[in-house]
This record gives sequence, C-alpha cells and structure tokens, in this order.
Amino acid sequence: MTQAYDNRPIGVFDSGLGGLTVLKDIMQRLPAENTLYFGDSGRMPYGSKSVETVTRFSLQNMRFLLDQDVKMIVIACNTASSRAYATIRNNSPVPVIEVIEPGSREAVRQSENGRIGVIGTQGTIDSQVYIKTIEKLSDKPVEIFQQACPLFVSLAEEGWWDHPVTRDVARIYLEPLLSRHIDALVLGCTHYPLLSSVIKSIAGPSVRLIHSGAAVAAVIEQTLKRTESLNNGQKPAVHAYFTSDSVRRFQTLSSLFLDQPITDIQHVDIEQYSCDALQSD
Ligand code: DGL
Repeated sequence: MTQAYDNRPIGVFDSGLGGLTVLKDIMQRLPAENTLYFGDSGRMPYGSKSVETVTRFSLQNMRFLLDQDVKMIVIACNTASSRAYATIRNNSPVPVIEVIEPGSREAVRQSENGRIGVIGTQGTIDSQVYIKTIEKLSDKPVEIFQQACPLFVSLAEEGWWDHPVTRDVARIYLEPLLSRHIDALVLGCTHYPLLSSVIKSIAGPSVRLIHSGAAVAAVIEQTLKRTESLNNGQKPAVHAYFTSDSVRRFQTLSSLFLDQPITDIQHVDIEQYSCDALQSD
C-alpha cells in the first residue's frame, strides 16, 4: 500500500505572540510542514476573560483556520486549551492538539523531588487543569504549587523580554514558589518562554523550566504519521501569519523572536467569523 500525504498547512492559534514559542518548535521538528499562524493580539489577554468569552474567541479562531483549509488545529494557548479544548475538538472536522497534557507529561518526567511549580494566566490557574493532569500522569506523590502571573503576558507582547521591570515583576511572582523548594517550573502560558532568560535567572540552576513546545511538536508528528497526513516534502514549506491587530507590531516582534524576517503577515477581521458551537463539551 502506498503512503498517503496531506500538504495542507497546520493551523496554529494563540491570543497573540505566545504561540510563536510553540510554532518555532513545530518548524524545527517538522521542517517540511506548511504552517498558518493566527495571533489574536487585538483581543488579548485571554487569561483574565471568562470561560464563555475564551470559548467564543476560540471558536471564531477555529472557523478562521478552517476557512484557510488547514489539516489540523493547534491550540498554542494554555488558557484556550484549559477553557475551550473540548468544545473545539467537538466542533472541528480536523484533529485538534492542545498544550496542557504534553507540558504536564514533561514536568512529571523532569521533576526529581515531585515538587512542581506551575505559572500561568489567571484563567489557566483557576481551571486547576495542571493540578488534575499532573496528578493523573504521575505514578508517585507530587505536590503542585500554582501562581498566576498576569502581567507577564503584557510584558511579553510589549517586547520587554529582558527588561529590569520584567525582572522585578518576576521576582515578586516567583518568590512564593521558590520558597517551596520546587525543582521544576511549568511555563503554563505560551507567552512565558519569551521571558525565559529572566525567569531562569531568578529561578536559578536547581529549577528546570518546562516549556511544552517541543513535546507538543512531538504529539503533532505522531498524529500526522498516524493519520497519514504528513507533507510529502516536495516543495519548500510556506509559513503564513495572520493577526487581528497591527501587522507592523506583529512583524517586528515575530521577526525578532523567530530570528528571520517575517513578511507574509495579513490582518484578519476575526469578528466576522461565527462563534456558534455545533456541540458544546
Ligand atoms: N498565551 C496564552 C496562554 O498560553 C494566553 C495569554 C493571554 O492572552 O492571557 O495562556
């Protein structure tokens, strides 16, 4: 039997720039894949919004990506994964990948003392999804300490990735977790890896930073292989970018982060996409 391929792009969305930290890992692991990224910077932050609002936004983002004929949807946002994954999965005709389980699996694998810190948006922390998932995946007792770090998202979107203000804010947010002697810290928001040099310098060498990007890329590869939908690799990969806010701002910061000039960026009027759910979770 011959192997089947699917050259349509992988669709990725986040509330803003944060999902680029996942996209980078996808591009590294699967260089033949076309990708299409949507950053909803015009409506961020998601982390302080209600479950209903995050679900509505996520459904609109899904519809936009499906309109572009993607073969898969990656929710590169912890807040949307924790609030809307089941709804998106139930309404999507293509496979949907979320970021919580791969990150939790990494935390369980990398923590030696079973004391794990989790930082995320208020929405992700309130959902308790990391506590439930890490406890489910671990076969030894674990203690999980959580901290919401809402200002990190604005600092990341501002491009203050290594800035004295970011350092001061990080010190205040991380102190309560570090005093619990954690040895692993889950960056439970895809914006936070943008600030990882500051976070790392405050957390110190005894704390491993867990960022789900590489683990998510591995899950995507397995899913594409299982469903025989890898790209056949006969043409160079194309990467397209869309934002609901200023194209110029997105261009400057995305080029800086991805370390290459990003030119194919278009503005999307995301409110024109339907938020009707065919089925809730
Ligand atoms: N990057 C997102 C996350 O992973 C959301 C940040 C926000 O918009 O509050 O949770």
